[in-house]
Amino acid sequence: MPGHAMKVLVIGSGGREHAIIRKLNESPEVTEVICAPGNGGIAADAVCFSVKATDISGMCELAAREAVDFVCVTPDDPLAIGMVDALEEKGFACFGPDRAAAQIEASKVFAKNMMKKYGIPTADYAVFDDPAKALAYVKEQNSWPSVIKADGLALGKGVIIAQNAGEAEKALQEMMVDRTFGNAGSQVVIEEFLSGPEVSVLAFTDGKTVRPMISSMDHKRANDNDEGLNTGGMGTIAPSPFYTEEVADRCMKEIFLPTVKAMNAEGRPFKGCLYFGLMITEKGPKVIEYNSRFGDPETQVVLPLLKSDLFRIMQACRSGTLAETETEWSDQCAACVMIASGGYPGSYAKGKVIRGLDENGRHAGVTVYHSGTKFENGQYLTNGGRVLGISALGRTLGEALEKSYAAVKEITFENAHYRTDIGKKALERGNA
Ligand code: AMP
Ligand code: GLY
Repeated sequence: MPGHAMKVLVIGSGGREHAIIRKLNESPEVTEVICAPGNGGIAADAVCFSVKATDISGMCELAAREAVDFVCVTPDDPLAIGMVDALEEKGFACFGPDRAAAQIEASKVFAKNMMKKYGIPTADYAVFDDPAKALAYVKEQNSWPSVIKADGLALGKGVIIAQNAGEAEKALQEMMVDRTFGNAGSQVVIEEFLSGPEVSVLAFTDGKTVRPMISSMDHKRANDNDEGLNTGGMGTIAPSPFYTEEVADRCMKEIFLPTVKAMNAEGRPFKGCLYFGLMITEKGPKVIEYNSRFGDPETQVVLPLLKSDLFRIMQACRSGTLAETETEWSDQCAACVMIASGGYPGSYAKGKVIRGLDENGRHAGVTVYHSGTKFENGQYLTNGGRVLGISALGRTLGEALEKSYAAVKEITFENAHYRTDIGKKALERGNA
C-alpha cells in the first residue's frame, strides 16, 4: 500500500540481513524495521527479538504481537520449511518463496531434474539413493575430478569435489551412510566437473518478470589463492567483469526466463530473490546451483548499488507488479571483505573484543555489516565464524577494494583472519 506507514520484520541474523535492513531503512514508506533473531550490530539499525529463524509459530506470534505489515524471510532453512506459507496464512504479506518454490534450493535432485526437463544448461548428472550404486557409477565414469552433492540443505558443505576413487568413496560414505548432513544425504547428485569463472546473479522475480541485479563474484575458499576449506564466502565484488553484456543476454534467454517459466509449469511459481550460481564455461553459461534467497556476502555488495526503493521492489515481487516497478542501479563498483574468526570454517573462539568500531558498530568511509557479533557492556564482541563484512563503493573496483582494505586493517580482534586477495582475479580480468 503506497503511502501507508509500514513496519517490516526481517528474519535472519547475518551480514546479508544487515544489508537488507540498512536498505529498507532508506525507504520513505518504511517507518520501522525489526529483526529476529538479529545480532549485536544489527541491533543498532533494527530492534532485535530472540526468536529462532526456523521457529514458525514463534515468528507468527512475533509478527502478530508487533503488528508488522510485511515480512522479509531471508535464510534458506525457514523458506524450505514453509515460513512464508505459515505467515501468509495468518495474513502477513511476505517477501520470499513459499515452501514448494523453495525446493529449487532445498533439493538439488529437484533442481537438476527440472533443468533437464526444460533444457536449462547445467552439468550432466545422475541421481542415486544407494551408496554402492553411486560408487560403482563414479568408478565406471572414471572422470576426475567428480562432483558429489548431497540432495538437501547442508550449510554450504554438501558439495565434494573428489579427485580420485578414494575421495569419492569417503564422500559417499559420509553423506549417504554416516549421514553427516542428516537426511540431506539420503540422495546424492553426481555431476560432471565444469570449469570457468563463477558468477553470482541475484534476481528479483514476481513469477513473471525477472529483474537481474548487478552481478557479483564470491570468494569461497578460506585462504588466499583459493586455498583452504570452502566457507560461506570470504568476500565479494560487484559487478563481475566476467559477466559481459553478451553473457548477460544469453543468461536471460537460456537460463533466467526459462527457470521462472519452468517453475510455473511445475506449479511452483517463484516469487522473491532467485540466486543463480553460474559458471561461464567454454560452451556458454551453465547453472551450478540455484538458491531461493539473497546470497551472503553477495548482498553486501549488490544492495549498496541499488538506487531504487527496495521495499517497493519487495512488495512488487509479491503482488506481481515487478514489470511496472523501477529497479535502477548505480554505475559504481563495490567490494566486501569478510573478517572471520581464526580457525573458521573449523572450530574458533568467540567473545573476542572488536576494536575500531564506533558505538553503533560503524567505521568511517565504509559500511560495516555485522555477521557474527554481540554487544555487551558497551563493546562489540565476536560471536561467530564470519564476524564482519567491510563493504565500500568506488568509481573503480580498485578504489572500492582500497577503501575496504584500509578499514579492514583498522578493525581488529584477537586471531582475526581475512583474505588479502579479494577481487584480485576480477582486477586482472578488468585490466586485461
Ligand atoms: P554449490 O554449493 O552447489 O554452490 O557448490 C559449491 C562450490 O562447488 C561451487 O561454488 C563451485 O565452486 C563448486 N562446484 C559445484 N558444482 C560444480 C561443478 N559441476 N563443477 C565444478 N565445480 C563445481
Ligand atoms: N555466498 C553463497 C551463498 O550465499 O550461498
